[in-house]
Amino acid sequence: MTVSDRLAGGVGGPEHLRPLLATALDALGKGAVQRDGPLPAGGPDAVTRAVADVGEALPSGGVGEQQALSELAEVFTASAVDPADPACAAHLHAPPLAVAVAADLVASTLNSSLDSWDQGPSGTVVESSVLRALAELVGYHPDAATGSITSGGTESNLTGLLLAREHALGDAAGVAPAASGMRERGPMRVFCSAEAHFSVARAAGVLGIGEDSVIGVPVDDRHRMDPAALESSIVEAREAGEVPIAVVATAGTTDLGVIDPLVGIADVAERTGVWLHVDAAYGGGALFSERLTPLLRGVRRADSVALDLHKLGWQPVAAGVLLTRDRALFEPLERRVAYLNTEDDEVAGYRGLLGRSLRTTRRPDAFKIAVTLRALGRDGLGELVDRCHDLARHAASHVSAHPRLELYRDPVLTTVVFRYLPEHGDPDGRNAKLRRRLLDSGRAVVGRTEFGDAVWLKLTVLNPRATEADIEALLADVDAAGQKEKATP
Ligand SMILES: Cc1ncc(COP(=O)(O)O)c(C=O)c1O
Repeated sequence: MTVSDRLAGGVGGPEHLRPLLATALDALGKGAVQRDGPLPAGGPDAVTRAVADVGEALPSGGVGEQQALSELAEVFTASAVDPADPACAAHLHAPPLAVAVAADLVASTLNSSLDSWDQGPSGTVVESSVLRALAELVGYHPDAATGSITSGGTESNLTGLLLAREHALGDAAGVAPAASGMRERGPMRVFCSAEAHFSVARAAGVLGIGEDSVIGVPVDDRHRMDPAALESSIVEAREAGEVPIAVVATAGTTDLGVIDPLVGIADVAERTGVWLHVDAAYGGGALFSERLTPLLRGVRRADSVALDLHKLGWQPVAAGVLLTRDRALFEPLERRVAYLNTEDDEVAGYRGLLGRSLRTTRRPDAFKIAVTLRALGRDGLGELVDRCHDLARHAASHVSAHPRLELYRDPVLTTVVFRYLPEHGDPDGRNAKLRRRLLDSGRAVVGRTEFGDAVWLKLTVLNPRATEADIEALLADVDAAGQKEKATP
């Protein structure tokens, strides 16, 4: 085999890809038949064995493209969890739209990168136009706003807080650079509800602010941040010589889908002059739905917003979004690098997107989003969101009517938190075990979380193709697994 034979699929054009694609699609089909459900039966050991059985990861002589692809793709599929199966409903793990997967193949084939114009001219323009559309959806002025497609909510929250920190320190000292600011001022503080995503605290740690600098603002009986308590916390922090750099409101908490009162929080942020970041990684998808959009009233007043279209947006991972209301807020990320973006190139119009991200090489993940937005339109995506919301409400009413299941509270978006109620014995242990029983059998992937130290189960409904009957069958499986656990010592 010559070098060019070996590389034919890797560096060729579409014609070199076609036979490999046929192999990949065949393997996806065969693997799904072998799996015969949302995940492989037999638990972690079975998956480890199946992958090991394919053979050496780095043989001294390669087995060839077709063989490597077909063997590994079949095992990978057979041993995967498939979010397109209605019994896979644990996480914010969406079944991707076929059109978005196909679009992603185009992006991968061209391997564009957005850090300089000459690695991704079309990607640069497509990302800008997608961000413009999403900025309008959020309610920002599209001429003023800007942003970036990110690897997800985690990166969006990190970048949002980085911009907030620079803004706070810059404001406090004119144009003081953050590093010197950190030395000279009191400790910085970030305010969010106790139910905010853990990535907020982690971002504070990464940014040198410290995970313990994040103040958990009390929530009301519906798990929503209390704006009055937020205001008192900010005032107290200032009185103690601390520097409040951001309020993070959550629009769609991971477990309950709770949306903090954005209008009240925006009022507090405005009165106290603190940056408002809205983590709408989950709930941002509600903006596609006419029915659910009112839940996010006030989001347009945020300085920065995180959305995640690999959740309620049905994109292949990754499809995170960070938007800022004003493009000037992104300035702290701007860098001039001789090999990427000289001033004379930019003056001549050759402008890449280096200054929109902490990353250098960056995939044009905007491309699949662009194709999806155009293919389905806001109404099409809104229908998918509404369908998942309806299914979640159906699941909740089915749970409420069930003699052995208990609903934690009515769904806000598309998650349903509930548990199996054993007649006797420890409900926490029983729920934890029944969930593993379902995983081990390969029948269902159900989520698990905790409230007040109690174990609860969770359905995260992100599959608009699921039916009411699918949801009922899934709950019947949970009930049956709960009853079987009783029989085991
Ligand atoms: C509210 C919220 N924010 C942020 C994240 C992190 O998003 P990602 O996993 O895309 O980084 C999640 C993930 O579930 C989330 O639910």
